[in-house]
Amino acid sequence: MPSTTGPVANAEHLSACTVPHSESLLQELKSRIDADRVPRHVAIIMDGNGRWAKQHGEHRLVGHANGVRSVREALTAAREIGISYLTLYAFSTENWNRPTEEVNALMDLLVKTVVDEIDELHENGVRLHAIGDLASLPESCRQTLQQGIARTAGNTRITLTLALSYSARWEIVNMVKAAAQQAQAGTLDPERIDENTVSGLLSTHGMPDPELLIRTSGEQRISNFLLWQIAYAELWFTPDFWPDFRKSHLFQAVLDYQQRERRFGRISEQVAPPTP
Ligand code: FPP
Repeated sequence: MPSTTGPVANAEHLSACTVPHSESLLQELKSRIDADRVPRHVAIIMDGNGRWAKQHGEHRLVGHANGVRSVREALTAAREIGISYLTLYAFSTENWNRPTEEVNALMDLLVKTVVDEIDELHENGVRLHAIGDLASLPESCRQTLQQGIARTAGNTRITLTLALSYSARWEIVNMVKAAAQQAQAGTLDPERIDENTVSGLLSTHGMPDPELLIRTSGEQRISNFLLWQIAYAELWFTPDFWPDFRKSHLFQAVLDYQQRERRFGRISEQVAPPTP
């Protein structure tokens, strides 16, 4: 089995990307972002690690290993422009159906990444958080996550949420069960259930809904991610594979988000700023 713990093989040989990487263009993109209208919560479906690896003649696991750099880039970029919540779809309920070798390697990579990065995350004010069926993760993974979460619990600059063994339908089933149990116990009046009740029983309770959802690799699907929470999210897709994702992608996505008119069912004249 190829090693994924070496010097992140081939991290530097980027394939052609649709978003420029040069430092000057990066700064130019960043300077165009309106600091007053940055989304509070950005969610990302990280996709295309396997295809990236194939394109580079590597094993799929090398694609995952290279995806770690992109996680760092996305987090740094989000922090730099004042995004408060970044949620990453790191392992779906459906991903358990992958070959055991790949599942184990992904779990090992998660543990290694959290162990390697936790000091820097903490120093940079990142609060680590996780959602999903965490009980289904291997013990080592759960423990490492719990330690990282406890250590960074007091940080306030940005919350990095890893969705692990997560699917939105799993989450909704759990929410319905919790509501039914509370109703049965007499602590929840079914007549008084509203959207806030539902939001409060989801694993994302306490977080604002994502205003922007990004997916890499050219796929234009939601794949069972945050179905309730993305009701009004703007969607941004890039053909680039996740291991090629850089800060410039996030900046471009935020710029495009800021160009869009978010009407929430109203008409344009109701949401447009008044002309001077
Ligand atoms: C999707 O690519 C990616 C995943 C299922 C795993 C994401 C994991 C990482 C980026 C590793 C590091 C993450 C953390 C949080 C430490 P794919 O395998 O579905 O690619 P394909 O569609 O091209 O096969």
